[in-house]
Amino acid sequence: MADPLVVAAQVLAPAFAQVAGRPVGDVDPVVRPSDRADAQANGALPLAKSLGRNPREVAEEVVAAVIASGAAEGFGTFEIAGPGFLNITFDPAFVASQVASSAQDATLGVRQRDTAQTVVIDYSAPNVAKEMHIGHLRTTVIGDALVRLHEYVGDRVVRENHIGDWGTPFGMLIEHLVDLGPEAGTAGAGDDGVSQGDLDAFYKQARAKFDSDEAFADRSRARVVALQSGDPETLRLWQTLVDLSTTYFAAVYAKLGVLLTHDDIVGESYYNDLLPQVVTRLSDAGLLVESDGADVVFPAGFTNRDGDPLPLIVQKGGGGFNYATSDLACVIDRVERVGADLILYVVGAPQAQHFQMVFAVAEMAGWLQAPVRAVHVPFGNVLGSDRKMLRSRSGEPTKFVEVIDESVERAAAAIAEKNPDLSPDERADVARMIGIGALKYAELSTDRVKDYVFDWDRMLSFDGDTGPYLQYAHARICSIFRKAHEQVGIDRASMAALTPTIVEPQERTLALRLLGFDAAV
Ligand code: ARG
Repeated sequence: MADPLVVAAQVLAPAFAQVAGRPVGDVDPVVRPSDRADAQANGALPLAKSLGRNPREVAEEVVAAVIASGAAEGFGTFEIAGPGFLNITFDPAFVASQVASSAQDATLGVRQRDTAQTVVIDYSAPNVAKEMHIGHLRTTVIGDALVRLHEYVGDRVVRENHIGDWGTPFGMLIEHLVDLGPEAGTAGAGDDGVSQGDLDAFYKQARAKFDSDEAFADRSRARVVALQSGDPETLRLWQTLVDLSTTYFAAVYAKLGVLLTHDDIVGESYYNDLLPQVVTRLSDAGLLVESDGADVVFPAGFTNRDGDPLPLIVQKGGGGFNYATSDLACVIDRVERVGADLILYVVGAPQAQHFQMVFAVAEMAGWLQAPVRAVHVPFGNVLGSDRKMLRSRSGEPTKFVEVIDESVERAAAAIAEKNPDLSPDERADVARMIGIGALKYAELSTDRVKDYVFDWDRMLSFDGDTGPYLQYAHARICSIFRKAHEQVGIDRASMAALTPTIVEPQERTLALRLLGFDAAV
């Protein structure tokens, strides 16, 4: 157990229990970080209240009890402050031993879950035949960090990439593909095909034809029906589009160095067969209501601008299903097939109401029941320096892949200037690490929910709270170890077995910071 706050709670718990006259574990010492000491225990205040006694007296008794038990020895000293807080100052030897034990621990002192949870993390989720934009960068980086955090504490994590690969737009997309001819769907078809570098152009051409060409629009609508009824040739064309896009997505993920792979794709189409069941199950539960010709559910507490109850549409008048239907099927699948204890949806803030309504309906239907939880993890927009949505020079939404490439290019330029002697190969390698590290760090070090202003100069700066600075600090530490090895023969791995001697205040501050890792995770 490396976190001193956790140890402090364990040291104090028996004393609190003794003073309370209750079993150990029944009284929380309420140990918290402190501005004035290494930590503080606030538990004497609520305890005094429940006993109808003076909190300072209670705190004094607690201190006397810890000291009498011998538990404080080698741990630290206590001082009563204010109305009855216990300020704790750790013994240097205690801090040193905690640092040593976390250095030897496989997870550096981070406690493992007693019982692993199954956590489904829904992230990235771009749409087929559409470009990945800067917002996908956010969900991809944040989602990947959540995957790594949950795995680190011992959870079973199931990554799910809920790509948009189904629905009415596929009618026009497939017809457009047919018009372009059989070559269009092959990789490298160039400007006339479904160019992987320019998926948006393909989508826009299809859209433009749909809006201007009546015959094309009719064919597109017929194609949707063919797709939904499982016509083999239509499915083959659909698969061509999906494959082209998912190959492209995989290349972007590989570039970015995230954990998502092809096997993590569980797109909207996967839920297609479950959609009729969603409707039957809602109807059997007596939740389905007809409203304006559609089948809907009214979850409690949702109203529109006029204060009228807001419906979640499950089946449209013509019998079609929608995004909400597929997300309801998705909840069923994740709970009943995957066995999720926790489902995280890393999706932009504008979809907050959609998820709240989907979760509310799933709860009403009994698909989502405590202790299973579904949580929307929203994030804010990425803004340009004008505080408007980040756009590329041509005014289009900024492409995900261009941001990655530009970050690496800028890093390469900075390295060429700082370190002209690096070989081209080495420079390319370091540029990739710095460029991508800078992007991820910028993403993860800002307030997740707020919009943030994208700033190349700040992000790639070698000073301050940036990825490059962190990597630089790490490189310097590695260099100290390398020199220690070369000059005095100390091997880095063997250092973990040593207990440090903590003397200087800076060493103490650093040690306590390191020991906060468990709490931070
Ligand atoms: N493809 C969707 C979009 O671009 C995001 C899907 C998020 N996940 C979900 N289960 N709805 O908006």
